[in-house]
Amino acid sequence: MPSIDLGVGSTDVQPQETDHDTEPSRRALYHRFAWAYELIIPHPAGPTVDAVAGLFFEHGLRPRAHIVDAGSGAGTYAAGLASHGFVVTAVERSPELVAQARSTTADVSAQLQFICTDFTHGWRPTTPADAVLCRGVLNDVIADAEREAAFEAFASWLRAGGLLLLDVRDRESSLRRYTGGRTFERTVSRGDDVLSFSSTTKMDRDTDHLRVVERWAGRVGGRAVEQVDQFLMRSWTWNSLEAVARKAGFQTVNSLDPAAVGARDDRLVALARR
Ligand SMILES: C[S@@+](CC[C@H](N)C(=O)[O-])C[C@H]1O[C@@H](n2cnc3c(N)ncnc32)[C@H](O)[C@@H]1O
Repeated sequence: MPSIDLGVGSTDVQPQETDHDTEPSRRALYHRFAWAYELIIPHPAGPTVDAVAGLFFEHGLRPRAHIVDAGSGAGTYAAGLASHGFVVTAVERSPELVAQARSTTADVSAQLQFICTDFTHGWRPTTPADAVLCRGVLNDVIADAEREAAFEAFASWLRAGGLLLLDVRDRESSLRRYTGGRTFERTVSRGDDVLSFSSTTKMDRDTDHLRVVERWAGRVGGRAVEQVDQFLMRSWTWNSLEAVARKAGFQTVNSLDPAAVGARDDRLVALARR
């Protein structure tokens, strides 16, 4: 567990308990309000699903190739890759997101299995993977040692020559985007349930930390709900990404143009081969 400044945690104002966890992993977006995940983020900032599938085909994968989706969230990418013909093992540590993903991906369930676990705690696939996708996950991993452990895990899951495709937040463009603070707001509904969400991100140049405050307010199940989550993320530089990938044993580590794969311009997109 990294050492993190004070002032980070979650406050469940009403009606539930107070939570002072300091990890992004505790945010309501991943748990209490997981049902709203794809409504809040309908267009992830990384490469599109079709671009990911296209890259895997272009680099030699065939239908039925085995892909591990590390940190699969609500299952959008896992389901999309399964519908392109890949066999997908989706690993996600939030039980609420796994339940949400299972409920929306029944049409491709023969090609897709969800495993609810923390992928840095010794999990490995039962058969070696042809590729690993880790999309939008590694900004949540703050300490250098944990970043190294994640890449070591990815390398250990892959067959020789297997691919790793990932995207993370780029330090320089994140500084431009977030140094002055930036707020994103959205209101979503499901039946009679309504949630207003606002997320404010401010970046600290000295630590590369993005300090995020997420506020939720609305009515769920006929009751007023309110929650505030405060947590840190940490951006990456290309040099830090390449170094940690090479240290984990990846033979090649190539940077992809975010625009060419439909990603936002504050992302580093990397394709590495074991
Ligand atoms: C920003 S979301 C991205 C989800 C998905 N990859 C996508 O692009 O839609 C990050 C996800 O990674 C998961 N995650 C982060 N670290 C993890 C770990 N060590 N083991 C399993 N899941 C993890 C989080 O719970 C969260 O669902």
